[in-house]
Amino acid sequence: MASASPPADALVIGGGAIGLAIAWRGAARGLAVTVVDPAPGRGASHAAAGMLTPVSELQYGEEALLRLNMDSADRYPAFAADLEAASGLPSGYRACGTLAVALDADDRAVLKELHAFQGRLGLASTWLTSRECRRLEPMLSPAVSGGLHVEGDHQIDNRRLVAALLAACERAGVVIVRRAVAELLASGGRATGVRLDDGTELGAGHVVLAAGCGSARLPGLPPGVIPAIRPVKGEILRLRVPEAYAPFLSRNVRAVVKGGSMYLVPRADGELVVGATEYEMDDTVVTAGGVYELLRDARELVPGISELPLIETYAGLRPGSPDNAPVIGATELPGLIAATGHYRHGILLTPVTADAVAGLLADETVPDVVRPWGPSRFGASGTRPSREVSYA
Ligand code: GLY
Repeated sequence: MASASPPADALVIGGGAIGLAIAWRGAARGLAVTVVDPAPGRGASHAAAGMLTPVSELQYGEEALLRLNMDSADRYPAFAADLEAASGLPSGYRACGTLAVALDADDRAVLKELHAFQGRLGLASTWLTSRECRRLEPMLSPAVSGGLHVEGDHQIDNRRLVAALLAACERAGVVIVRRAVAELLASGGRATGVRLDDGTELGAGHVVLAAGCGSARLPGLPPGVIPAIRPVKGEILRLRVPEAYAPFLSRNVRAVVKGGSMYLVPRADGELVVGATEYEMDDTVVTAGGVYELLRDARELVPGISELPLIETYAGLRPGSPDNAPVIGATELPGLIAATGHYRHGILLTPVTADAVAGLLADETVPDVVRPWGPSRFGASGTRPSREVSYA
């Protein structure tokens, strides 16, 4: 069934934070944009914690990705201010800093290594004793053996972010189609639009694939155009801090607890997010074991957490590419642009991804910081980097 509506300049498959931000930024450039998603904002963007913590979440071997992460974190204050002005809603951005703490002596050694690595890269982080950690966050257990204060790592309330992006899109004239995509359409060797699950066909000058861990499974996608994107399950909890207990925590707390890592993210409105488990699985069942582990470790760090109401347990699927880094840019199929595979950093990477893809839609070149992360690095098989990604 063909649609009577005129083709959009851009059609975005996936209405998570990234898809909506691309649509909003694209519409702000005067483009006619359509977003297709059966439940915008209810995928990984709803499950996330919203940590904007490139320095405290630094991983070995990911120096190039750090540059992208830092670039996006730097964009956040202006991005959030623009979004608030465009939507009339709070963005949930909170410049609160992050304290990364260690529990036992082994955890402390892990964090000391991280501190040395951050130092070699010239990143701002300060080592604190146990007492200094508790001076910043008095609810921490005296068992905490030390920590790192990263004043430049912040947070955004991912659910407020998505609500504001939806409102900004609607105000900017983005058409939101609440249906599933059945198939990518291509003609003459070019992506031309999509067919929806009710048979309607929507045409577009460009199609942007921002469908998280469903991105590589889209029917109609030629083999190798998008690398394998796998689901990585994460369980996450939400607690509420009663007013009488506030401020319970004043900043993000990341922790190494007996070799595992976790985080607590306190919102300005009293919500406390505790996450997250990580399994190579494709279901969103919240298990008793997952909740137990998160609460057990959180209570070791912050014993007072036992008193707080547990208001939500949730699970989402992070989209992981073969090298766990995002896939942003034009694909081998003309007319199809990738914006997927953001794994653990989808919320952090929303501004830089949106600006780069909106620029591509307007025929601009990709910024240098984004260029290493194009789909072509995986080669024709779409399964592994065809060359070493430059982490320089
Ligand atoms: N970025 C946090 C997580 O993926 O759990």
